[in-house]
Amino acid sequence: MTYTYLLLAIFLLPEANGLAAKRGIAYNNNNPSGNAVYANLFKGHTKVSWAYDWGYPSWNLDSSFEFVPMLWGLPSGADPDWTAAVQTPGTVNILGFNEPDLTYDASSNIIPEKAAAGYLTYMQPFAGTVRIGSPSVLWNNVGSSSGGSYNTATWTEYFLGNCTGCHLDFAAIHYYQDCVTPDGQNGAVWFEGNVTNAHDVLGLPIWITEFECYGSEQQQIAFLEQALPWLDSQGYVERYAYFGAFPQYLINADGTALSDLGSSYASI
Ligand SMILES: *[C@@H]1O[C@H](CO)[C@@H](O)[C@H](O)[C@H]1NC(C)=O
Ligand SMILES: *[C@@H]1O[C@H](CO)[C@@H](O)[C@H](O)[C@H]1NC(C)=O
Repeated sequence: MTYTYLLLAIFLLPEANGLAAKRGIAYNNNNPSGNAVYANLFKGHTKVSWAYDWGYPSWNLDSSFEFVPMLWGLPSGADPDWTAAVQTPGTVNILGFNEPDLTYDASSNIIPEKAAAGYLTYMQPFAGTVRIGSPSVLWNNVGSSSGGSYNTATWTEYFLGNCTGCHLDFAAIHYYQDCVTPDGQNGAVWFEGNVTNAHDVLGLPIWITEFECYGSEQQQIAFLEQALPWLDSQGYVERYAYFGAFPQYLINADGTALSDLGSSYASI
């Protein structure tokens, strides 16, 4: 292969130059088919390359997507199923606890010290074999967090402070807020500010594993039209997943096709 062809090959191989599609799908199997049917509606949309379901297994996720297993919360003991999920061929990246910083019913609600101990037990053994994400935290939470009256940035600082020897390849964050700011701007400016801030503070590549703006479908599409090109052009943003592959979100109300929002997410 001549040098020119080698260069050409590098430019054409998305993984080789970091241009692999960053866009992903958050889904679950809570639907009449009991599988990844909603995520699979994105098959063939080349801007979507990966998916996760807040856990494992993938429930028949189409093989055109990279499945990223998540250890949602703190196991009560040895967890051979998690080990098997991480060691499943094709696993390249893994995600840890989901919203451990928050204390509402469906959060994993873990104090920083225990979350760090959990990472050393259940994530660290896989360092170097797969890429490890930090816990998915609600970065724009300025209220209290699990363990105390401190915000999510502080929860994360405590987590990192306790996680001595933890190897992290990227940081995972969430963001939820209105589509339009009080002064009438597209809320993408807030979102972009928070993503930039997470990178500045944490110094790791960023995955936004959940984000959503609250507003009408048209307002959400306007938000995505501003936010997605921005995300795609930030070198430190590796991946993101807009919430989520559910009817009346990225899927239509009948659960049979992408909604207008989903079509926009797949094509912008
Ligand atoms: C460890 O986490 C606890 C809260 O769980 C916190 O009070 C403490 O300051 C943290 N330690 C470090 C070194 O960050
Ligand atoms: C993060 O988002 C909040 C809205 O939840 C906003 O008030 C704040 O200004 C944003 N932060 C940055 C650094 O842009």
